[in-house]
Amino acid sequence: MTFVVTENCIKCKYMDCVEVCPVDCFYEGENMLVIHPDECIDCGVCEPECPAEAIFADTEPGLEKWLKLNAEYAETWPNIAVKRAAPPDADAFNGTPDKFQYFSPAPGQGDGAEETQPTPPPEPAPQP
Ligand code: SF4
Ligand code: F3S
Repeated sequence: MTFVVTENCIKCKYMDCVEVCPVDCFYEGENMLVIHPDECIDCGVCEPECPAEAIFADTEPGLEKWLKLNAEYAETWPNIAVKRAAPPDADAFNGTPDKFQYFSPAPGQGDGAEETQPTPPPEPAPQP
């Protein structure tokens, strides 16, 4: 068993969930998060934290599609354990039906995004 992030996270991405997870098993896409099913310890503390009520135990019926999506994207998206600001239009999308049309497979920035990027090496001097 694991917990899964479902449709209403799309374009809401409040990220309250990442702050409470004891094993940091959330991964960030461009406009939603997923839970790594093999890392989740089923503690359940994230579920009531989500303002969009997008997190469910996978024992709920009808979540097969979302379990598959969580498992797939948790392998490639970056880890996130530190909450950032939600999208400015998050509240407008909270509860909107049929949000899967907005799903983006692109990765999010993850926790590493705030770190400074290494300076690229200088251009080699032109050869005479
Ligand atoms: Fe993390 Fe617990 Fe939520 Fe699983 S149920 S994602 S371990 S907070
Ligand atoms: Fe998504 Fe809810 Fe977390 S909207 S980012 S699952 S707090």
